[in-house]
Amino acid sequence: MPKNGYKLVSSPDILILEEIEEYLTTNFIGRNIYYFDSLDSTNTKAKEMAMDEEEGTVVVAEEQIKGKGRLGGRNWVSPKGKGIWMSIILKPNMLPSEVAKLTLIGAAAVNKALEEMGIISYIKWPNDIVIQGKKVCGILTEMSCELNIINYVIMGIGINVNLLKEDFSQELVDKATSLKEITGRDLDRKRLLASVLNHFENLYLPFKQRGGDISATIDISRGKSLLIGKEIRILRE
Ligand code: BTN
Repeated sequence: MPKNGYKLVSSPDILILEEIEEYLTTNFIGRNIYYFDSLDSTNTKAKEMAMDEEEGTVVVAEEQIKGKGRLGGRNWVSPKGKGIWMSIILKPNMLPSEVAKLTLIGAAAVNKALEEMGIISYIKWPNDIVIQGKKVCGILTEMSCELNIINYVIMGIGINVNLLKEDFSQELVDKATSLKEITGRDLDRKRLLASVLNHFENLYLPFKQRGGDISATIDISRGKSLLIGKEIRILRE
């Protein structure tokens, strides 16, 4: 029996702050994490909490029952323990018209975090992360503002980490995939979550402090863009 206590050789795969703290290098993004076993939607919960919480607070759920997708209230498949379903509360001091740029920062942060884990992904402007032609991450940015003042922004990020093919509906299986399906291995959700938050803060700070400077984000997006050089068609909802 060791005299000096025990060495922790493995830790549970749950996304609480205590578990991801060792990987986190941020000052304020993710320093306050509300963790839920199950929620309708982390965006909905974050909106309820936003007025009373500090910037950088994160809401995470192991599963979402009514995960929200972008178009037409589409459901976002969010099975328990298999992905990263989170929302970051932001309170940028800028015009509401600037907020669209935040989604680009979120996408660039996910792209960089995946790269750090040895996974090359592409950004399908403005808010999808795609690998081998299929979506592995989506971002839903929602905002509350009055006239020209932003009350808060909720950046919802969904990453399909360890989902299996069977987790996707017939309709989605050709369009969406997971990091596990791509790499053939289980990925560490804690490390990935921390890394997304680290990269997000690095890219968000210059944007916030230097009046909307997203040059670093643009460089990442350009380098990994799926659309540059392609003809695109814009459809109105
Ligand atoms: C899309 O349709 O591409 C956007 C999907 C966004 C999904 C994430 S999961 C965490 C957050 N909570 C939600 O209800 N939706 C976003």
